[in-house]
Amino acid sequence: MSVSLSLKAIVAAGLLTAAGLAMSHGDVTPQEVDTGDLPDLGKEALMENPFRKGSEHGDKHDEAVKVGKSGYAGNCAVCHGIEAMSGGLTPDLRELSEWDDEYFIGRVMNGTGRGMPSFKDNLDQTAIWAIKTYIESVPQPE
Ligand code: HEC
Repeated sequence: MSVSLSLKAIVAAGLLTAAGLAMSHGDVTPQEVDTGDLPDLGKEALMENPFRKGSEHGDKHDEAVKVGKSGYAGNCAVCHGIEAMSGGLTPDLRELSEWDDEYFIGRVMNGTGRGMPSFKDNLDQTAIWAIKTYIESVPQPE
């Protein structure tokens, strides 16, 4: 077997594993997110990302990106793709704009019953908005 062929085989096996994980809805183990110095936003869902520049906690934007990056990697990347590039099986989260904040928090807290699990019991909204802030920080799709 040539080197390039076996490399292809490895890549294919990796893709299959990723697809397998994406298919096994709901039984992904949520990873706790250390929200560091970010303010506790309480239980009642805000309708707008408070960490966006110019918003209430906009001064924490950069910290939120950092927290959100690891929160995303531990909880969302398995289905929504590394750096939020979905590859087509799940919605591309980079397409959501700031007008979709309310939609975003609702989806993440409650899930959809069609493959998107509810994170209400596992992530507090500080972590969820940090993840949104991170997603907004990655380059937009073409
Ligand atoms: C087990 C796989 C899985 C995990 C883990 C997951 N999602 Fe999803 N997500 C989906 C699927 C599948 C959909 C599409 C559901 C539908 O159409 O009803 C979705 C939809 C969404 C939507 C709605 C997007 C749209 O354009 O309609 C948002 C927002 C979202 N996910 C955010 C997240 C975030 C943030 C995380 C991590 C905290 C996460 N998801 C983790 C599978 C997952």
